Amino acid sequence: MEFRRIGNLPPYVFAEVNERKHEARKAGVDVIDLGFGNPDIPSPPGVVAKLVEAAQHGKNHRYSSSRGIPNLRKAVADRYQRAFGVTLDPETEVINTIGAKEGLAHLMWTLVQPGDIALVPEPSYPIHIYAPVLAGAEVRRVHLSTDSDFFDRLTAAFRTSWPKPRVIVTSFPHNPTTVTVDLEFFKRLVEFAHRNDVVLVHDFAYADIAFDGYQPPSLLQVDGAKERAVELYTLSKSHSMAGWRTDTSRRVSCKYPAPRTWESSCTPCLRVTPWPAGVWVLPSVTGRWSEHSPS
Ligand SMILES: Cc1ncc(COP(=O)(O)O)c(C=O)c1O
Repeated sequence: MEFRRIGNLPPYVFAEVNERKHEARKAGVDVIDLGFGNPDIPSPPGVVAKLVEAAQHGKNHRYSSSRGIPNLRKAVADRYQRAFGVTLDPETEVINTIGAKEGLAHLMWTLVQPGDIALVPEPSYPIHIYAPVLAGAEVRRVHLSTDSDFFDRLTAAFRTSWPKPRVIVTSFPHNPTTVTVDLEFFKRLVEFAHRNDVVLVHDFAYADIAFDGYQPPSLLQVDGAKERAVELYTLSKSHSMAGWRTDTSRRVSCKYPAPRTWESSCTPCLRVTPWPAGVWVLPSVTGRWSEHSPS
């Protein structure tokens, strides 16, 4: 049988790396794993305790609201206010998803369809390519490196694409290149998006992991960004909660109603139990990873 949609996907690089790693280890090679970006320290004890406490409440065993429990959405809005001076309405502008990855994949279904184009930096974290491809769109890759002007490349790719791309995916601090940007970059991007009627999807997975005084800006800090952009934020990296797949604490900041409709149709059963752990941990997120790394 021929399966639908997955035929166009490039090979999943982490699966290949894992296979080779496995083979090498079987052959007795001492492998240093630079593949999957898995945190190698446990989640903070307070988060684990909150999970245990929440799991003991029967009301948490029921279906939850698909856009997330109100306290977690409010904690996200508070976090954005504190860290970035961005005011978000927890009722209409924040959705909790089961990961930045899942959030991005679902979001793309509401933004593109066959015949549409998404611009994506290359190299990229795989879901930035897979999400538009799974939604049927074509991906144009835009080379990103530490030594070239990405904005110029992006706008050139936009100009030479037909039909005009509907979506631009970005993610800074960038995995795997480590390229970072300043707020000025985002201002130019938002201005470009308004002028060209394109939606920006910013994966802010490394929002809290920065060093030497650098504070990654949020795209939503730019005036007018909310009308054109969705930003995905996660605690997977900053709080070693990558394995809390059934939980928790990643979120989409969003002004558009379509992703909310999509999430409520497709994700009616987010596991509410660990979400209180996200509520617990968010107020302690102050900024850079080094300031709140789990002890
Ligand atoms: C750029 C980027 N986005 C998203 C993710 C995954 O985020 P989450 O655990 O919230 O799905 C990763 C994980 O490696 C990543 O590197």
